[in-house]
This record gives sequence, C-alpha cells and structure tokens, in this order.
Amino acid sequence: MSGILSPSVMCADLLNLSSEIEKLDKLGVEYLHIDFMDNKFVPNITFDTNMVKSFKKPMKNIRRDIHIMAFEPQNLFDAMDIGEGDIVSVHYEACKDPHSVLADIKGRGAKPCIAISPDTPVKTVEPFLNEVYAVLLMTVYPGFAGQPMAPKSMERLSELKSLISDFNKDVLIEVDGHVSWDHCQEMRKRGADIFVAGSSSVYGKGYEIDEAVKKFYDLVR
Ligand code: DX5
Ligand code: ZN
Repeated sequence: MSGILSPSVMCADLLNLSSEIEKLDKLGVEYLHIDFMDNKFVPNITFDTNMVKSFKKPMKNIRRDIHIMAFEPQNLFDAMDIGEGDIVSVHYEACKDPHSVLADIKGRGAKPCIAISPDTPVKTVEPFLNEVYAVLLMTVYPGFAGQPMAPKSMERLSELKSLISDFNKDVLIEVDGHVSWDHCQEMRKRGADIFVAGSSSVYGKGYEIDEAVKKFYDLVR
C-alpha cells in the first residue's frame, strides 16, 4: 500500500480555504488533516466545531482526518457531524474512558484512531489495537504547527510498528508533526502509513501545492 497524504489544513492559506481544499481534492489527496484544539488539553485554539463540520461540504474525494486535541472529545461528535468516511483521532491522555469514545466513533460509521503525545509510552496503545483503524503518533508536542520533531520520535515509530506487527497487522500508523521533506522517507521505512504534511513540507516555502503533493507522493509511495 502506498503512503497516504493528509495535509494539515491549519498550515494552509486560511483566508482561501475553499480553493485550497479544492486544489487538494483535484490532486487526488485522500485526507484533509483538521486539528481541533480546545485551549485546555493544549494551549491553543484553531477551528470551532462549525468549521470542522463545514469541511465536510466542498470535498468530492478527499475525506476528513479530524485530530481532536480536547478533553472528553465525545461531547463534540454531534457538533462536528462525525460520520461515514471520517478518520477521528482522540488523545489517550484526554479521555477518561478511551474504549467507549472509540466505540462511539465506530458506531457513527467513522474510523476510530487513538493518538498519543510524545511523553506517552508507545505500549499504552496496546489495549486499543483491536478497536482502532490507526494509531496517531505525535512526533511533536501537540498544540502548534512549525515545531521541531520531538526527541526519540523515530525510535518510537519503530517501536509502534513492531507492537502493531505483533498484535494486529491491519492497524495503520499516522505520523503528525514536523513530517518534513527530510524525515518522511525514513518515517515510511520505519512503518508510517498516513503522513500529516504541514509547514515543514507541502505547506512549506518554495513549492506550489501541486508540485509539493507530487513530490511528497514520490517520496512515500
Ligand atoms: C500540531 C498538529 C499538527 C500540525 C502539523 O498539534 O497536530 O497537525 O498542524 O504541523 P507541522 O507539520 O508544521 O508540524
Ligand atoms: Zn494534528
């Protein structure tokens, strides 16, 4: 299976989002990474639930890849109109009962994904491997774009890949944070499947979006 691209919309041109998303859709990009932040779990706010809901409308092929950095995220699912085709990532660190939150996502026809921050041991995800579509491995500390990679991220990626190989080969790995031109190939080699591309790659300087998307796919195919 080729690498899957999920450009981080918070890194796009926020004053021209509709045309930005249409460009990605036309380029055949599979997912749009939408970061929701509550200013409690992380000290930042990005889009509100209405905006997250609106990202459902203008897309033909591209699907929502919603990364919820909020406590008790299940309280937001109705407002975000979570449903068929969405990937929904919730943080292990932000849920009192992650099992029931993941089941709620699945019950809505969406793809449940457990996210862990850089200081959370990789083994933490083991009890969820039969309930998730993917594991979101944060390779920066959640909350802001444009950060350097968190220490030991590559080692953690390899550790996660071997954990999944032992327990449930079908589970995918999504990497999120400083997924740069220099890092993405090694991440692919170490087992990453879905790449959240932001300010250090497709939304970085020097490339038009169509060239950047093509370059990224060439690197992670
Ligand atoms: C950070 C977000 C990331 C971020 C990635 O909390 O989860 O998706 O937008 O941005 P870069 O690629 O600049 O690290
Ligand atoms: Zn994210």
